[in-house]
Amino acid sequence: MEPLNIAVIGAGVIGKRHVQEIRNNDACRLVALADPSPDASGYAASLSVPLYSDYRALLDKEHVDAAVVCTPNHTHLEVGLACIERRVPVLMEKPVADDLESAHALADASKQAGVAVLVGHHRRHNPAVRKAKETIASGRIGRLVLANIMCLLYKPDAYFDVPWRKQAGGGPILINLIHEIDLLRHLSGEIVSVQALSSNTIRAHDVEDSAACTLRLANGALANISLSDTTATPWSWDTAAGEDRQLFDYRPVPTHFFAGTDGALTLPDLTMWSYEDEKGRHRPIHDTHIDLAEENTYANQLRHFVDVARGATTPIVDARDAARTLEATLAVVESARTSSMIELRAK
Ligand SMILES: NC(=O)c1ccc[n+]([C@@H]2O[C@H](COP(=O)([O-])OP(=O)(O)OC[C@H]3O[C@@H](n4cnc5c(N)ncnc54)[C@H](O)[C@@H]3O)[C@@H](O)[C@H]2O)c1
Repeated sequence: MEPLNIAVIGAGVIGKRHVQEIRNNDACRLVALADPSPDASGYAASLSVPLYSDYRALLDKEHVDAAVVCTPNHTHLEVGLACIERRVPVLMEKPVADDLESAHALADASKQAGVAVLVGHHRRHNPAVRKAKETIASGRIGRLVLANIMCLLYKPDAYFDVPWRKQAGGGPILINLIHEIDLLRHLSGEIVSVQALSSNTIRAHDVEDSAACTLRLANGALANISLSDTTATPWSWDTAAGEDRQLFDYRPVPTHFFAGTDGALTLPDLTMWSYEDEKGRHRPIHDTHIDLAEENTYANQLRHFVDVARGATTPIVDARDAARTLEATLAVVESARTSSMIELRAK
C-alpha cells in the first residue's frame, strides 16, 4: 500500500513531535509543513519538505491524504473546517477548540461531511490507560468511589516569556487539566458537576497557577484533582508516565489513585491493591504490579490516525467526545470564577 501523505499544520513544539513520529512510520510520508513563523523555514529545509505560510495554499497545492493540526487553540476551528471542506481527515491537537460552540461546530462539520476528526488526547493510546480501563470495567476494584489525581508540576520562568501563557486561557486549567479530565472521563465515565477553586497567589499572573477541583461522576463516584504549575514535585503524569522523555524527566511514581469498594488501582505505575479475603483496615492489604511492555504513545496515536484516515476505523476520540472534555474543563474555569457549582449540560 502507498504511504499516506500527511501535512503538518503548525510546526511548533508538538508539531515537531508529530513530524518525528511521521518520519518513523513507514505507513506515512510527510508531504509538507504550514507555518507562518520565520523559524519554520530552516526546519522545513532540514526535512527537505515544502513549507507554506498559508495552510490553505498547502491543502490546495499538495496531494494531502491527511493533516495533523498543531496550531494555537483559537485557530483550531478555522483550520479544521478548511481540512474538512477539502475532505482531508484531521488529527487535531487538544483542546479540540477554544470554546464549546466552536467544538460543536467542528463536530457537526465532521459528521455532515463524513470526514473524520481525531483529537490528540494522546493518553488514550497509552497501554497503561488501556489496561486501567479494562481493570476498572472488569470490576476488579469493585464500585469506584473516589479518584484522586495529582497534576503538580513546575514550569520554569522562561515558559512565561510567551505573553499568552500569563493571560486567561493560557494557564494550567486549559493546558494541563484538560488531559486529566479526559482521562477521568475515559476511565470512569461522564462528569455531571464541577466545583473548583483556583489561585494565582504564587506567580501573580492574571491566569491561575493552581486549582483544586472536585467533580461528581454520573455513576455516583467523586473525584479530586489537584493542579499546579508552580510546585516542585514529581507528581504529574508527564513526569511519572515517561511518555515524552525528550521533554520531561521520568520518575515512575503513582500520581492517579482510583479507590473502589473492593480494591484500588494507581496509575501510571499500574499497581492493584486488594485484601486477600475479608476486607477491613485491620486486615493485611496486598499490592500487585501489572507489568506491561513499554509502547510509544504518540506512535500508537499516529498508527490509529493512519487507520482512521484510510477509513479502516473510527476515531477513538472524535470531536464530539473531545467537546465533552472541553465542556467539563471550561466548567472548572467558570466554577472558580463564580465560586459556584456548575452542572454540565451533556450528562
Ligand atoms: N497533546 C499534547 O500533549 C500537547 C502538547 C503541547 C501542545 N499541544 C497542543 O498543540 C497546539 C500547539 O501547541 P504548541 O505547544 O506546539 O504551540 P507552539 O506555539 O510551540 O506552536 C504552534 C505553531 O503554530 C504556528 N501557527 C500559528 N498560526 C498558524 C496558522 N494559521 N497556520 C499554521 N501555523 C500556525 C506557530 O507559528 C507555531 O510554530 C495547541 O493546541 C496545544 O494545546 C498538545
